Amino acid sequence: MSLTVAIPKGRLGTQTIKMLKSTGIGNAIDEKSRKLIFKDNERNIKFMLLKNSDVITYVENGIADLGIAGKDMVMEKESDIYELYKMNIGKCKLSVAGIKGKKILTDDTILKVATKFPETAKRYFKSKGQKIKIIKLNGSIELAPILGLSDVIVDIVETGNTLKANGLEVFEDMYEISGMMISNKISYKFKRNEIKEVIELIRKEDEKND
Ligand code: PRP
Repeated sequence: MSLTVAIPKGRLGTQTIKMLKSTGIGNAIDEKSRKLIFKDNERNIKFMLLKNSDVITYVENGIADLGIAGKDMVMEKESDIYELYKMNIGKCKLSVAGIKGKKILTDDTILKVATKFPETAKRYFKSKGQKIKIIKLNGSIELAPILGLSDVIVDIVETGNTLKANGLEVFEDMYEISGMMISNKISYKFKRNEIKEVIELIRKEDEKND
């Protein structure tokens, strides 16, 4: 077996690494170290730790055979990759939210939407016939409606704690999100058995945790 696997950093990454370790194939990964590449020499698997949004880029360009990315990123990038397996981790929702008690959807005026996911937000509101103006941000999205930069936000809601702590609430849930195992088409063609082996290990672990 010879595989390169792209793993995201952050919350989804921590859950992914825990899962890989419990399958027995991720023991070489040391999340506390500053290293970004880890090798399981016995099984010939190389793991790369990447920013969440970059996992898809590395997989799509063939640098990684397999990757774990949030469905939120997969939807946003609409890349030329295969979505092979929906994981039982990284579960959250992509939602429209705003200041508590100030629901201002389905308005005739142009809605100002702050988000890290501009393409997904555009598609969603277009399907509803709502005109919007996108304000692209890279983090701390919740600040935008509070400070008057936007009317609403489109963002990930997991526990809901960030919204609550900032006086915001969900107006509408848009999509269910979870971790997704992705591959590029060439790797899937030539390393199908190895890829399926890893997915099968993860699927079994998922079943245990269900
Ligand atoms: C994400 C998201 C919310 C928060 C939601 O941000 O953008 O801010 O998590 O989680 P919760 O519902 O459990 O509170 P992240 O932690 O990735 O940081 P960022 O704002 O820098 O993107």
